[in-house]
Amino acid sequence: MDAGQHLPNSLRQLPPASRLVGDPTAPDREALLNSYLSHLGTKIRKKLRMEPSLSEIDPYLAAKTLHFQAPQITPELLGAIKLISPQFHLQCTERSRKFWELNQNGLCWGEYEALAPFLSHLGAPAKVLDIGPGMGRSTVFFKSIMDWQDTPFHLYESTGETTKYTKAGPRFDDSFCGSLDLLGTVLAHNQTRAFEIFDASDLDAKLSRLPGPYDFIYSFFAVGWHWSIEHFLDEILSLMTDTSIGAFTLHPRYRGSAELDRLPHRMVTFRRSWPRERWSNMVVLAKTEDALPKVG
Ligand SMILES: C[S@@+](CC[C@H](N)C(=O)[O-])C[C@H]1O[C@@H](n2cnc3c(N)ncnc32)[C@H](O)[C@@H]1O
Repeated sequence: MDAGQHLPNSLRQLPPASRLVGDPTAPDREALLNSYLSHLGTKIRKKLRMEPSLSEIDPYLAAKTLHFQAPQITPELLGAIKLISPQFHLQCTERSRKFWELNQNGLCWGEYEALAPFLSHLGAPAKVLDIGPGMGRSTVFFKSIMDWQDTPFHLYESTGETTKYTKAGPRFDDSFCGSLDLLGTVLAHNQTRAFEIFDASDLDAKLSRLPGPYDFIYSFFAVGWHWSIEHFLDEILSLMTDTSIGAFTLHPRYRGSAELDRLPHRMVTFRRSWPRERWSNMVVLAKTEDALPKVG
């Protein structure tokens, strides 16, 4: 019998407990048990809308050097984070600030480790585009870890009042739920320089109106994750040269497409910081095969 059968829906996606009790030769039952308990804790905390715990963050990524610093969580910042990340029940406390900081920084590390071979193949970019930066974690992180402080970054975002996320769904123009004011606050807190924020609502929500081209374009947990990459591909390609690369997080529901298949691309997995021991997919694409290393 499946041990998950008696669990409520919210707990069914845990690693099967039968792996713990059913196989006495399992190499590391202690590690499995810890993983199981951690995922169970995350599910229960989410269900009860409890403040997250630092122990929910992947320990490997939590131990990494801090490149992103979170400011104090004010009621305004809390509201802005809630809109872009409704899965977290943060509070205006030091514990929530630290959780958010470690989670944002850890996620950046996971993405960076997957992208490192592509970034070294690319070399120093003249201009970078962050599509749907939210509170700007990736701009802060890439500038710091790559030593790109003076490289111009363009951030394409807009202020919104409601969260309208789909899972690899269609495109619509009022999907933005950022806060340009608080994005500026978080970037200033990290002493970020050489960046420009573009309000998508001034551009008719058309990426192609941005002043490209860009050598490196990315969208993490935005275009590609919530809204399928195909709806944006033509506009993104219009902003790329033959040596540019683009990296986009893909939702597990994404099933691929003929449009993407026609382009040189690599699928990579990366480690996520929350919950622990979770991996997601990213596509790295280009206009020419030469722009991509032979990995992935
Ligand atoms: C889940 S958040 C991700 C934020 C950030 N990239 C991160 O990974 O932390 C999704 C972001 O996509 C933005 N967004 C919504 N519609 C968009 C669109 N059509 N194009 C680009 N970004 C969009 C939202 O405003 C929000 O900031």
